[in-house]
Amino acid sequence: MELRSSQWYAGEDRNAYIHRAWMRRGAPDDSFRGRPQIAIANTASDLTPCNAHLTGVAQFVKNGILEAGGVPQELPVVSLGETNVRPTAMLWRNMAAMSTEEMLRANPVDGVVLLGGCDKTIPSLLMAAASVDIPAVVVPGGPMLNGTFRGAPLGCGTGVWKLSEEVRAGTLSQEDFARSESAMIRSAGHCNTMGTASTMALVAEALGTIVPGIAGTPASDARLSEAAQLTGRLAVDLVKQGRTPSTFLTKGSFHNAIVALAAIGGSTNAVVHLLAIAGRLGIELSVEDFDRIGSHVPLLVDLQPAGRHLMEDLFRAGGLLAVLRQVKDLLDPEALTITGKPLVDYLDDAEIFDPEVISVRETPVQDDAGIALLRGNLAPDGAIIKPAAATPELLQHRGRALVFDSIEDFHERIDDPELEVDADSVMILRGCGPKGYPGMPEVSNMPLPTKLLEQGVRDMVRICDGRMSGTAYGTVVLHVAPEAAAGGPLGLVRSGDWIVLDVAGRRLDVELSAEELAAREPSAAMTGAFAAPTRGWERLYVDHVQQADTGADLDFLVGASGSEVARESH
Ligand code: FES
Repeated sequence: MELRSSQWYAGEDRNAYIHRAWMRRGAPDDSFRGRPQIAIANTASDLTPCNAHLTGVAQFVKNGILEAGGVPQELPVVSLGETNVRPTAMLWRNMAAMSTEEMLRANPVDGVVLLGGCDKTIPSLLMAAASVDIPAVVVPGGPMLNGTFRGAPLGCGTGVWKLSEEVRAGTLSQEDFARSESAMIRSAGHCNTMGTASTMALVAEALGTIVPGIAGTPASDARLSEAAQLTGRLAVDLVKQGRTPSTFLTKGSFHNAIVALAAIGGSTNAVVHLLAIAGRLGIELSVEDFDRIGSHVPLLVDLQPAGRHLMEDLFRAGGLLAVLRQVKDLLDPEALTITGKPLVDYLDDAEIFDPEVISVRETPVQDDAGIALLRGNLAPDGAIIKPAAATPELLQHRGRALVFDSIEDFHERIDDPELEVDADSVMILRGCGPKGYPGMPEVSNMPLPTKLLEQGVRDMVRICDGRMSGTAYGTVVLHVAPEAAAGGPLGLVRSGDWIVLDVAGRRLDVELSAEELAAREPSAAMTGAFAAPTRGWERLYVDHVQQADTGADLDFLVGASGSEVARESH
């Protein structure tokens, strides 16, 4: 086995001396002669609270690497805390992926263990690993323990949306709202609802990039430490076997990820992330595949935001493998996991221990629960909706548009008592796509007008070119492509136009002819409500980001460059 790191460390010349000498610092000479060097790409950061515990997890990974004869090298990488990072963590996903990719390529490493948790971290790590194409395996940081408030489960994210609407509706006091704050986050880990972090961990396991059975293990559970140590051992083995992402990830792997996404009722954000990861691998995955493969998969998991329970309950009830066993016939039997064995080989022993949390196929939580792709004259390149999170009666709807040109415009006007809006209105928010915001923020689930909340309205049709938090819910059409700022027709709609949503027919239209649309003046959301960024990452991002229907990666980051670096540093 020729190790990649031997390009740095092998030999007796001056450069090999330099690479070894600076690294040894007490390590025996043989540490850098023939032993696999395993990076631990660690997204731990105090400013990414969901991942702050990962340095502890890294210690177990290191133990495993050493036990298997490898040498662990911790590599702190760009970390993205969903609740902190402005203007939206999605603006930085591609930057995190690019910087991780380049640091893996630039350094003497043979393989990598990827430690992620909070929403964008596992996607960015997988995008990076796919482009470098060295052996890589994920250890997911795990969800936090269940929160409870006044005797009821309190899910992070979802609870915030629900309770804040109750405050606005006058049914919850500000004092009780403040009291819930410390009850929501009660341990290390990422959000405990079926939000984007939980979704991406489970979907990454279905994809094959996590040892089956690990995803969803709570962050503070000793079994996660054990799994991290065993994964450390596996990473050394992966190098010996040369199992890089491109050797086992196929279209079938993504097929399985889409089936899993539907069966768990996962976040819509998984669509842009899976498209971007597939793009790095050169796998032809389209937004249509999510509808074709996933839309008729039953929802088997009763978790918030759409349901009742939280991630700790899912783990206790049998976890992802118990869910996937119910839909085994829908999975690609050939698709391999990181262990070299097919995903389906792990399912026969998987049991459901709590049918309140995981349903059997015969009595699903909901039929046909996957993501639906809509097209029409409002979304020529597509828009998506998650029917499982929507109000069934609103899935076929005709209503008058109420248009907002930016999130600031929305905040300014939404509670104006004179605002012309009723429960049948269709709220449209634009200027929130990849280019327009920039960064495609999670604003699509617009809060409802207070005057309607006071009347008891709890859901309305909403349409946006941005994203929605995986912890959010409602009849929300999102990822509209092309976005308004890229010339999409969403930018031409005016308040008062009739909008038709037909999820069964997979249509999203404004009742205007092509001629009428073409004759309209571009709105502020099309011409740029804000000055375009002039420098730095934002400039690069706006100039090169692609639309949601292809994963919102930068055009020049699609594909792989491999792990070769021809030139020495001295
Ligand atoms: Fe980090 Fe939800 S904010 S996972």
